[in-house]
Amino acid sequence: MSDPLVLTEVRDRVGLARLNNPRAYNALSPDLMRTLVDTLRAWDADDNIGAMVITGNEKVFAAGADVKTMSQASAVEMLYSGYIELFDVLATIRKPIIAAVAGWALGGGLELALACDIIIAAENAKFGQPEINLGIIPGAGGTQRLARTLGKYLTMEMVLNDRRLSAEEAARFGLVNRVVPVESYLDEALALARQIAARAPVAVRLGKEAVNYAFESTLSAGLAHERRLFYLLFATEDQSEGMRAFLEKREPTWRGQ
Ligand code: HXC
Repeated sequence: MSDPLVLTEVRDRVGLARLNNPRAYNALSPDLMRTLVDTLRAWDADDNIGAMVITGNEKVFAAGADVKTMSQASAVEMLYSGYIELFDVLATIRKPIIAAVAGWALGGGLELALACDIIIAAENAKFGQPEINLGIIPGAGGTQRLARTLGKYLTMEMVLNDRRLSAEEAARFGLVNRVVPVESYLDEALALARQIAARAPVAVRLGKEAVNYAFESTLSAGLAHERRLFYLLFATEDQSEGMRAFLEKREPTWRGQ
């Protein structure tokens, strides 16, 4: 039997998914992506999990779509394969996903990280959209999510001329939350995931929804949406418990209700 394409473990309410296609720099083959999204969907439905981490290994997060598979495909085969839609599934996951990136995050690999909610980078992380070298452009969100994060001009350079960003540049330009030593990037991501997973589950879910709505709406529609979610939280037991615990100077016990 061949090695699993995604190695999984669950600890302290956190699901960890490690991309495992080392012979091809963790190229995101259709089988790997299907395994990954099946895993994330299952964790999203599991009350015992509060947050997820996706990582690669210390040398590579993922070097993009599998060029060997893609090189033979026609436009119609790409269209009917449903491959890129697998990336869209990440946007439907309601629990927070942290990308822990060391080494290369290229092409679809960077797009996978961009589809996560928080990015922790190791000092050796390198980010790029090298599709132009293959005669194509990013197809799983790179042009849109990078433009919204980095602005037009740097994104143009990345998409049109394979400009790559070091971890330090990525932090300076707001593409990653922070840069940490290679030895600790995964521990840092897992610790952050554990902290979020220990918080009030409904508030975490609605907080993620509210922030993501900012990328889909006008300011006034976003503010109205935020307000509805804010009022909704006053119907939860966790809101009563959280405020009571604050006033009683004790730690709250969250029930996700
Ligand atoms: C398939 C890949 C691969 C990929 C690397 N390999 N990236 N195989 N798909 N994306 C394979 C190589 O063919 C090689 O296999 C082995 O991994 C090691 O790669 P080398 O190039 O020899 O290593 P190195 O010189 O260290 O360079 C590492 C690298 C480079 C910088 C990551 O491999 C690279 O630039 N890879 C391609 C990146 C890329 O173009 N990504 C975008 C893909 S398109 P062998 O068998 O020779 O050992 C894309 C579009 C997404 O992502 C659209 C929507 C999803």
